[in-house]
Amino acid sequence: MKHTLPFLLLATLLAVSCKQELSTPETRIDERVDSVLRLMTLEEKIGQMVLYTSDWDVTGPTMRATYLDDIRKGHCGNIFNAHTVAYTRQLQKVAVEESRLGIPLLFGYDVIHGHKTIFPLSLGEAASWDTAAIELSARVSAVEAAASGLHWTFAPMVDISVDPRWGRVSEGAGEDPFLGSRIAEARVRGFQGRDNNLADTLTVLATVKHFAAYGAPQAGRDYNTVDMSERVFFDTYLPPYQAAIEAGAMSVMTSFNELDGVPATGSSYLLKDILRDKLGFKGLVVTDYTSINEMVHHGVAATDAEAGLLAVKAGVDMDMQGEVYFNYLKQQVEEGLVSEKLIDAAVRRVLKVKFLLGLFDDPYRYCDEAREKRYVYAPAHLDAALEVARKSMVLLKNDRQALPLRKGEKIAVLGELAASTRDMLGSWKAAGDWDFMQSTVDALREYAGADQVMYAEGAKKQGEDRSGFAAALAAARKADKIVMVIGEDWEWTGEAASRTNILVPGVQTELLAEVAKLGKPVVVVLMNGRPLDLSREHRLADALLEAWYPGTMGGKAITQVLYGEYNPSGKLPMTFPLNLGQVPVYYYAKNTGRPVYLLNDKYKSKYIDAPNDPLYPFGFGLSYTQFVYSDLTLSAPELTASGRIEASVRVTNTGSYDGVEIVQWYVRDLVGSVTRPVKELKGFNRIELKKGESKIVEFTLTPEQLAFHRIDMSYGPEAGEFRLFAGGNSRDVLETGFVLK
Ligand code: GLC
Repeated sequence: MKHTLPFLLLATLLAVSCKQELSTPETRIDERVDSVLRLMTLEEKIGQMVLYTSDWDVTGPTMRATYLDDIRKGHCGNIFNAHTVAYTRQLQKVAVEESRLGIPLLFGYDVIHGHKTIFPLSLGEAASWDTAAIELSARVSAVEAAASGLHWTFAPMVDISVDPRWGRVSEGAGEDPFLGSRIAEARVRGFQGRDNNLADTLTVLATVKHFAAYGAPQAGRDYNTVDMSERVFFDTYLPPYQAAIEAGAMSVMTSFNELDGVPATGSSYLLKDILRDKLGFKGLVVTDYTSINEMVHHGVAATDAEAGLLAVKAGVDMDMQGEVYFNYLKQQVEEGLVSEKLIDAAVRRVLKVKFLLGLFDDPYRYCDEAREKRYVYAPAHLDAALEVARKSMVLLKNDRQALPLRKGEKIAVLGELAASTRDMLGSWKAAGDWDFMQSTVDALREYAGADQVMYAEGAKKQGEDRSGFAAALAAARKADKIVMVIGEDWEWTGEAASRTNILVPGVQTELLAEVAKLGKPVVVVLMNGRPLDLSREHRLADALLEAWYPGTMGGKAITQVLYGEYNPSGKLPMTFPLNLGQVPVYYYAKNTGRPVYLLNDKYKSKYIDAPNDPLYPFGFGLSYTQFVYSDLTLSAPELTASGRIEASVRVTNTGSYDGVEIVQWYVRDLVGSVTRPVKELKGFNRIELKKGESKIVEFTLTPEQLAFHRIDMSYGPEAGEFRLFAGGNSRDVLETGFVLK
């Protein structure tokens, strides 16, 4: 559909494009941006710095009812939470054909792990350690979002976290900077396309969030204070943001939290010194939902107007839902409190993104009903969601050969979550709907035959209702094996969902204990968005499968894993503690001056009521087969400053199933100018091994991988002795050593 930009704007764009035969694409766009900027009033410029939510979805505490009129007046240049071709076209028409200059709207949405076809929740996807699968997930998400009229996703969320009390661990990639960085890159590639060509109408603009260090709130309580050393920030929390930006992400969202006493949304240190100067970011900076206004609550501004000044001077280009820029910036410019040059710089970055997306060439280029019908829920997308869901699942225990199930075995399926579809989509489900999905019990019945699969709810996902226990136990008595699906309601993780305990809620585990007394094999399938304290379930269940919130195809994926159609290969991207008292517990800990392995039995860094070791360590995950590691060797005992060492290890599949193993490579710097972690992940290989097969897996070590922020905060490696570890998780490893000269 051809558009009808107002003549003034169209004429300007045509005039500029005519005389640009000698410039580069970059300067051509810059000239076109400037040509539009010159036409804009101050009020229209500020309108481009405004982002309002539509009333189609609620992702924060406020809603503005007049956004249509704001668009018409040029007071709002960007909308989020509006989707479908029909609705985005309706809103775009108001902007393009009813506002004075007709500048196209930018449409954003939280397409975190799928748009309509929903993939496993991000922490679950991370458990696949399969960057190709994760890129595919983001690619499918982008295609369905773009086909539904969207230009911009508020993803990837790359916040590192070591605290399972924080509900938003579910949206990220877990505790590790290296794994988190590789996954951040994969998600940006998926959303923006490998060549970052935003003009491709099947890609969307990616947003790196939440900048910065949002994942380290004190006490795991969302939005709470973050305070850490600059060294920890640079070595642990910053790398995934940097990786996403280096992968080409063109927007960044500021976080709600303060860091070192300054709210991120008003921090020139974060948004200029680090983001622009250190990381070289040139794209668009948008706030999180009303995070400008919240600087008044933080106590660094007395009024919204003061908060707006802090944000615009720190380098925030767009105010999400706060109405602060809209209400105060014009007057502040007129009073000389902020220069119009600063406004122009912000508006240029907003307009540039719209040019890169091709919206000035055709504001309706994402509005195509035929595309929407062709791509949304395409069979290939559902297949991709099944594939990624299967790969995300982590086998935590499998005694008495409880798994895989065998057709012909009569199974009793218990638990409210076994019959739920909504929960399988998890939080941030975007436009995903659950009314046509298969539940786990439906999928099991379809696979094994309805006569082989009994169902009794038994226990709800929360609350103290035990009235279903008797029926559940009756079903269990008639079965050969019991499959119990337990975990958290989908709303118990995600934003504003922190918990003060990480136990399986309600009486689900109480029912498990009763079922276990029957002496039959009990398989527990977990649906949750955070590491839980599974010490009771580990004791009671014969098999434990972490399924996370597996998405649209979750029922089928769980079924295929339980029956061995897919041999589970996932590995934990985040440590599962023995109990909450150990938190924060993560694998890249420091040795301390009194490490627990010291000979004396009292004065060392330990607890008197529990071991230091977590229940399941980072990188842990079993298979239906067994993998044995041997022959860890190095090509040389020394690594020179400009050299490299080739490491290799043999992995053998000694069991009776073909399978996938994720070989993990860790290093330890024994002596540094500052204390160094006892292990750091530096590489991983995802390998397939048929039963009986053996492979040599190789890994190249270079000095760059050993760099860190040294005592003087310079970045680089230090000569000395190192250990190299290889294994199927961060605990059970082979070890050797080398020296960096
Ligand atoms: C929310 C979240 C952020 C999301 C935004 C828009 O408050 O913090 O992750 O992208 O608002 O929905």
